[in-house]
Amino acid sequence: MLKVDEKAQTLTVVENGEERTFSLYSDEAFSKIADLYLKVGWVQKYTYTFSWMGRPVIQLPDDMIRLQEVFYDLKPDVIVETGVAHGGSLIYYASLCKAMGKGRVIGIDIEIRPHNRKAIEEHELFEYIELFEGSSTDPDTVAAVKNSVGDAKTVVVLLDSNHTYAHVTDELNAYHDLVTIGSYIVSTDGVMRDVADAPRGQADWVTDNPANAAEDFVKQHSEFVIQQPPWRFNESTLSDNVTHWPSAWLKRQK
Ligand SMILES: C[S@@+](CC[C@H](N)C(=O)[O-])C[C@H]1O[C@@H](n2cnc3c(N)ncnc32)[C@H](O)[C@@H]1O
Repeated sequence: MLKVDEKAQTLTVVENGEERTFSLYSDEAFSKIADLYLKVGWVQKYTYTFSWMGRPVIQLPDDMIRLQEVFYDLKPDVIVETGVAHGGSLIYYASLCKAMGKGRVIGIDIEIRPHNRKAIEEHELFEYIELFEGSSTDPDTVAAVKNSVGDAKTVVVLLDSNHTYAHVTDELNAYHDLVTIGSYIVSTDGVMRDVADAPRGQADWVTDNPANAAEDFVKQHSEFVIQQPPWRFNESTLSDNVTHWPSAWLKRQK
């Protein structure tokens, strides 16, 4: 439970019967308020209100900006994403590739609805995009994607399809070898475990989620470490992403 006293400028947190009071204008208070904002925003479908260059993109803008910071640092040759939906995230990546003068985008979805396919294919940035229709873990799909990636030097992979623990684990196993040293495979939407007890949530999301899949994957794969990418600009005392993607960034270190 959070109790805000704006006049006293305090935030009181009650957790497991223990009460702690912080200055309202502190990093600790910001973190607690951000967690609650993310939870309420998730229930209210805040991430279902954005578009990029005309196409709906189902992401928290904070995560999109952080992703842009990573892309600009890495200048990837190929960005692979499972989960296309309306195509907004692919168009976003394509726009960054165009602006950077480098890179292309591969999108995979089990079902690309005809109106979405048409809109993506007619988009002015479609020349940067290749679509694959099929389950992201189907061996034929995986092989076709790997064939398209070829021997690209720098590859980033984003997993944003079916968010069950089992499916994300299968995706991590299927795609991690595409990721080049210094780059990332991103297991998105671990926020599920933080909203398990909220309206629209499910009790089993406490364990059945992409963050747990990522945490277990790195235990078996020492070449990866879970690491939030560094912020390139920070004139605050804050240090943690406000994100729907906890434990998401798996960096390949060897
Ligand atoms: C959260 S949406 C993707 C959102 C998109 N990346 C964006 O940012 O706007 C999830 C998508 O995953 C797709 N999907 C579900 N299961 C899948 C699977 N097994 N393989 C590939 N795509 C799948 C769904 O059809 C849906 O379009």
